[in-house]
Amino acid sequence: MQAHKKARDYVKATEWFDDLYKNNKTTQENIPWARQAVNPFLQTYLDEEKVHKGTALVIGCGLGDDAKALELAGYTVTAIDVSQTALDLAKERFKDSTITFIKQDIFEYEEQFDFVFEALTIQSLPIEFREKMIKAVAGTVADGGELLLIAHKREAMRGGPPWPLTKEEVDLFKNHGLRELSHELHTEDSKISNTRFRVLYKK
Ligand SMILES: C[S@@+](CC[C@H](N)C(=O)[O-])C[C@H]1O[C@@H](n2cnc3c(N)ncnc32)[C@H](O)[C@@H]1O
Repeated sequence: MQAHKKARDYVKATEWFDDLYKNNKTTQENIPWARQAVNPFLQTYLDEEKVHKGTALVIGCGLGDDAKALELAGYTVTAIDVSQTALDLAKERFKDSTITFIKQDIFEYEEQFDFVFEALTIQSLPIEFREKMIKAVAGTVADGGELLLIAHKREAMRGGPPWPLTKEEVDLFKNHGLRELSHELHTEDSKISNTRFRVLYKK
């Protein structure tokens, strides 16, 4: 693919998010992923009897609920998103929190964290960005740190957005210094796909 077409596709994909948030500033019911509550698959991690402390990163934080849950669990939290509108909404919703909300593209991020939460951001960009994105996500995990990945599983070829992940794509994390601690498939009714990956990695 020509480089300029790829760059144009990328700008289009990221602008799409900011427009969606802008058009749904007052009520979030038309933002398909905005449940306005912690992701239940993150909550099960937080409910595990381990010490939750150190630094945590939420990738593509949207309205900020997962970042807030991590803060409540005991982490020092950074939450990034490419959409300034999403960040403004999140900051307003969690005014009293100590979360650091930053407008930041995951492709250009070089910080590392003890715990990283990634839900649905990888699949939100066209497949041509997949390998690069997996590398970028893996790069944010510190040595000894953990990554919790939530993504829909691709069951058949479909047009996006979103573009669910195959098992082979999920396995690419292992090429970037991560080993699986658990790999679960959850069944649900969804227009996107009836299966979700919940994979916990350690670096
Ligand atoms: C499908 S939404 C998921 C939001 C949230 N993670 C959740 O599970 O509800 C994807 C989010 O990632 C953000 N995003 C898209 N591309 C990104 C990038 N390259 N770097 C950081 N955030 C990105 C979007 O603005 C959007 O808020």
